[in-house]
Amino acid sequence: MDKRNKPQSLSVTRISLLIFLMTLIFSSPFAQNPTYFTSFKTGAEWLADDGLPIDCHGGNIIYVDSLQTFFWYGEHYGNPRGAACYSSKDLYNWKNEGVVMTKGNIEIFERPKVIYDEINKRYVMWFHYDGNRYSIAELGVAVSDKPTGPFKLQNHFRPNGHESRDIGLYVDPETKKAYIGYAADHVNRTIRMVELSADYLNVTSNDVDINAHCEGPDILKKNGTFYLFTSGCSGWTPNPGHYYTSTSITGPYVIQGSPFVGDAGDNSFNSQRCYIFKIPGYKNAYLYMGDRWNGSGSPKSQYVFLPITITPGGQMEIHFYREWDLNIFTPEKKK
Ligand code: DGJ
Repeated sequence: MDKRNKPQSLSVTRISLLIFLMTLIFSSPFAQNPTYFTSFKTGAEWLADDGLPIDCHGGNIIYVDSLQTFFWYGEHYGNPRGAACYSSKDLYNWKNEGVVMTKGNIEIFERPKVIYDEINKRYVMWFHYDGNRYSIAELGVAVSDKPTGPFKLQNHFRPNGHESRDIGLYVDPETKKAYIGYAADHVNRTIRMVELSADYLNVTSNDVDINAHCEGPDILKKNGTFYLFTSGCSGWTPNPGHYYTSTSITGPYVIQGSPFVGDAGDNSFNSQRCYIFKIPGYKNAYLYMGDRWNGSGSPKSQYVFLPITITPGGQMEIHFYREWDLNIFTPEKKK
């Protein structure tokens, strides 16, 4: 054998072996689909079925029983700007359903929240409608027959004449009444709570200053207690979140402090809250949805999703997990 040929044939063999091994790995049933998730990973890159980072910020999740599907709505920072929608069967893996309402001529479109009107069988989206420098300070409302849109703008206005910026939206599961909590003055010192009309398309005059601060309040209700959860006021910069309690949704609320346990930076584990989602199928399973804006928001702003616990003593607690899954909760017995 010609010795000069040896190294070449060796490297050819090596390359063939490499190709064979790679084929084996990628065709094996154990090959990891990079977009398949089995857990929540705090602040990590989260890809949708299209292989792109989920671009859905400051929004909320609903579960549509008849479709056995979760829908996640939020601000879409990519093109076109507006409200994004993603759907999922397990809360980990999300299909991009596209932009369900484009911002169009609306100068500032933020914090969309969607609820389902069971009587009229339509989906209602409320959002922060504003103009340059946040001077208009209104609520916007849009409607769709399908969870995946398109949502059509119905109206925009100041609720009972009050300014409205960051919002939260809550439907009481017992009464089916819906409420919007809104930051109601230009320095976000006042939060008001307004009850919506029965068709969820308008506000009523049941609109009170609930003596809480600062922005976009969310509600959790357990054993007759309303837990109101707000963020501080530092724009998109993470700040300490606080919760309050009351026996009535319209207050009076009593401040209880931060629910974040061991939060060394005192900044909501480097996030800003956007919604509390009651996860169906589990006992007392509440999901903290927070945004890690990284600036003032971008398609790649990250998510901090963590379990919320209400302790036997009635305190709200959020513990940090780098990674966790729904097995943390106790499943409800199937009826
Ligand atoms: C202040 C909030 O803290 C931010 O998250 C963002 O919603 C801005 N408002 C936009 O108005």
